[in-house]
Amino acid sequence: MNILVIGQGGREHAIAWKLQKSEKVTQVFVAPGNGGTELEARCTNVDISSDDFPMIKSFIEENSIELVVVGPEDPLVNGIKDYLSDSNVLVFGPDAKGAQLEGSKIYSKEFLFKNNIPTGKAAFFSSSNKALAHLEKSNFPIVLKADGLAAGKGVLVANELEEAKNWVNEVMEGSKFGVAGKNIIIEECLFGTELSFMGILTPDFFIPFETSIDYKPLHEGNKGLNTGGMGCMSPSPFMNKDLKNNILETVVKPTISGLKNKGINYYGFMYFGLMVKDNISKVLEFNCRLGDPETQCLMMQMESDLLDAILQALNGEEPKITWKTGSTMGVVIASGGYPNSYKNKVPINIGTLKNGKLFHAGTKSMDDKLVTNGGRVFSLNYSSDSIDDCKRYIYDNIGEVNFDGMTFRTDIGEIYES
Ligand code: AMP
Ligand code: GLY
Repeated sequence: MNILVIGQGGREHAIAWKLQKSEKVTQVFVAPGNGGTELEARCTNVDISSDDFPMIKSFIEENSIELVVVGPEDPLVNGIKDYLSDSNVLVFGPDAKGAQLEGSKIYSKEFLFKNNIPTGKAAFFSSSNKALAHLEKSNFPIVLKADGLAAGKGVLVANELEEAKNWVNEVMEGSKFGVAGKNIIIEECLFGTELSFMGILTPDFFIPFETSIDYKPLHEGNKGLNTGGMGCMSPSPFMNKDLKNNILETVVKPTISGLKNKGINYYGFMYFGLMVKDNISKVLEFNCRLGDPETQCLMMQMESDLLDAILQALNGEEPKITWKTGSTMGVVIASGGYPNSYKNKVPINIGTLKNGKLFHAGTKSMDDKLVTNGGRVFSLNYSSDSIDDCKRYIYDNIGEVNFDGMTFRTDIGEIYES
């Protein structure tokens, strides 16, 4: 079977790496891919951007692609599944209506309220004056969210009034996030421990993946600017049976019935972003994709075949996914300056990495040399019986990767209760 993976991050490298291990695979094409996807056996990069739907469609038809797996949220929210509906190809990912759960934070909040799914209280605003007046009578900290997609940057946890007012002015009056910030949410701040709960969602069932946590802040001790994720660990040390049951009952079940009531036939990955306190979970966000860098850990933890699971789910059969015992950890290696501005096209040297897996994210080959091409450049992952082993291996070997300005957190694997 020929498969097309859409995207170019570390998540897509991990998905392509896992898919190409399947016996059923002839070739995994990745559009556009990165400097790592092209090195995998049976993987080929295709120079098509993930938003170029006409080119993607022609490629599918000309290369007998039977399955498309969509990595990032943008093509899903922009309707790639709908666009390909008259091509003879299976698409793993929701249609545009299903992807609105991530594409519009107001839509998803209304969905949460309507289906009695636990989440923070919130109010919606399309006028900055009304938003500012609301802030004047609010308690702090408070959470501000742009309604639309803002490349993971559309949320501010504001500790004081001035900061919140500046954000409202920049986002609603200025054009910090363009139309994505025309409408905003002002939301109750939730406290506890964050948990990424991901899996495969269909109209009839949800198959949870192993749990994971990511380390969002830039610096050690979970300090500094929020990033897309500087490291990850799976399973999450915070999961237990009661909590899992609580999530399945109070979050997953009503999500499935809520989608059914809306007539949405969702087939794809689903990532519930949760805040957990006293074994009770509340939803922070829905994502219609897998997390990055969590996927890099999850694909290494997954023992069974990912392609089988996807094909079964698309066929309405509940896949049985098995997981390795032990843990996987990953440390992200980023460009200096990330998550703010950073240099691209910085030459990279990679020494000898004997074990573990180096997933590429912001890399590409230029004149046969590997250079940086993004903020998060790699994640170095390792699986073992213990997290201590993972830490030892990764931090003993991370110096094999070298480029000017590279930076990483030295405390991934530590457990921070919030
Ligand atoms: P979101 O894109 O909605 O997940 O928000 C990004 C990050 O902002 C989350 O991973 C949390 O760290 C934080 N966040 C979002 N909503 C809340 C909330 N209601 N209370 C506290 N933190 C939040
Ligand atoms: N690691 C967080 C995300 O993918 O949204």
